[in-house]
Amino acid sequence: MLGRVNHVAIAVPDLTAATAAYRDTLGAKVSQAQALPEHGVTVVFVELPNTKIELLEPLGENSPIAAFLDKNPSGGMHHVCYEVDDILHARDQLSASGARVLGSGEPKIGAHGKPVLFLHPKDFFGTLIELEQV
Ligand code: CO
Repeated sequence: MLGRVNHVAIAVPDLTAATAAYRDTLGAKVSQAQALPEHGVTVVFVELPNTKIELLEPLGENSPIAAFLDKNPSGGMHHVCYEVDDILHARDQLSASGARVLGSGEPKIGAHGKPVLFLHPKDFFGTLIELEQV
């Protein structure tokens, strides 16, 4: 079911500072900040030769990463995104095996313009998993 790691996401309290650290201290190529109000985050992508790092800052009142940052005030690894060929097939197979798909269960369009779903971290050893159809 799983293909490549598409990205690893890190929740940060200050996106400007995190972007500067990746660009200036670590010498990585970083994207422009992109506000995604429907996901409650502003995102910057760090482009690496083999994958991407997604830096996430809360946006708006009910950001899904606000509680995470309350527990991890200096930031931390938030989720891992794996690529799948067919997200609806993956969802149905996962649901049938008892894994919980978050939200309505219908894919949303993610930061790359592709359909995404999230899987409950308690079903996968404490790690929030994002699936992205590529
Ligand atoms: Co993501």
